[in-house]
Amino acid sequence: MKRVLITGGAGFIGSNLVSALHARGYEVTVLDNLSEQIHGNDPESSPLFKSIQNKVRFIRGSVCDRNTMERALNGQNVVVHYAAETGTGQSMYMVDHYTRVNIQATAMMLDILGSRKDHGIKRMVLASSRSIYGEGRYSDANGRPTYPAHRDEADMQVGRFDLYDPHSNAPLTLVATDEESLIHPSSVYGITKQVQEQLVMTVCPLLGIEPVALRYQNVYGPGQSLSNPYTGILSIFSNLIMNRKPINVFEDGQESRDFVYINDVVAATMLAIERPNVGQGIFNVGSGEATDVNTVVQMLSKYFNRDVPVVISGNYRLGDIRHNFADLGRIRKQLGYEPKVSFEQGIANFVEWARTLGPMESGYEQSIAEMKERGLMK
Ligand SMILES: NC(=O)c1ccc[n+]([C@@H]2O[C@H](COP(=O)([O-])OP(=O)(O)OC[C@H]3O[C@@H](n4cnc5c(N)ncnc54)[C@H](O)[C@@H]3O)[C@@H](O)[C@H]2O)c1
Repeated sequence: MKRVLITGGAGFIGSNLVSALHARGYEVTVLDNLSEQIHGNDPESSPLFKSIQNKVRFIRGSVCDRNTMERALNGQNVVVHYAAETGTGQSMYMVDHYTRVNIQATAMMLDILGSRKDHGIKRMVLASSRSIYGEGRYSDANGRPTYPAHRDEADMQVGRFDLYDPHSNAPLTLVATDEESLIHPSSVYGITKQVQEQLVMTVCPLLGIEPVALRYQNVYGPGQSLSNPYTGILSIFSNLIMNRKPINVFEDGQESRDFVYINDVVAATMLAIERPNVGQGIFNVGSGEATDVNTVVQMLSKYFNRDVPVVISGNYRLGDIRHNFADLGRIRKQLGYEPKVSFEQGIANFVEWARTLGPMESGYEQSIAEMKERGLMK
């Protein structure tokens, strides 16, 4: 299992995984189109690309291109499939593009492997996502698990952001989302991740390949894109703080996410690559803790040592979930994964790194305008 192909391996998670694999003596091939949204308009000078350049065989091209994909798959033992479009909000109005890159290209890769008796690939690790759970798991007033559908716009308009039992109107209690929880994505991005996962889990065993789907929560840390306005509140808020601009906190700031530090994600992924006999594994990868957006703002202000005006605006985006955090029971037990970096330590590292890059032009205001124009943000 020494030769690994990482599609999208020049991205945030991929480039960090490259370093770990390289240090362990793997021969790594990266297939990546160096998308401008992630790598800027001079992608070959992007810090992420530079960080992997001398560690891998690099193929610049799209996973949607059959010839390129065929070439990249030659001689590999493991495929880590990361290449994807990743903006939840953006996916709601670029439906065709998201579906092609995330679903169609995965289907094509599986067809190519199916046409080769001697493909040599033993395992495929797929970056799935917590977004497939939508709102995730709650418990009702009687302690029964329940999976609320998306929130009503009428509620959000009057600042009622939490989840309620549709029958009794009683508040629901947030609990950790395990892998058996209902899959019901609330965005096109989430739908593409669900279908990608189902394709890989269904087809790979027929091809003699062990599929492992890692349902990553919100991954953060040094190396994440500070200029992509479509993903990641840590990047967006950091840029605003460094540019001394006010922060608009959506909803009431009590919405939460499970932020998992990049080193923990790489460690989990290495386990998914190296552990023998994982079978058809589906694992949550997170910190196992919910952190609300108000806390994120406080932590960033603390470590940047700068206060900017914070407006808790009550704005909301259609398709956004209220909360979701991972139950890590399965991955702890089966892969021996344990997150090691606390949110506070992770933020300290992230801020130290972000300061070295300084403020960036991110197009954030334009992305907000786009969402508003399309009626996706209120
Ligand atoms: N970062 C997170 O919080 C998170 C959470 C859940 C799941 N994921 C998944 O993990 C994977 C990696 O995420 P990331 O944060 O490193 O994203 P990223 O955007 O930093 O990296 C994705 C890489 O894929 C490349 N790419 C995009 N379209 C491509 C195409 N058509 N052909 C070839 N390459 C292409 C980009 O150039 C980029 O280098 C993605 O599949 C994403 O959906 C990420």
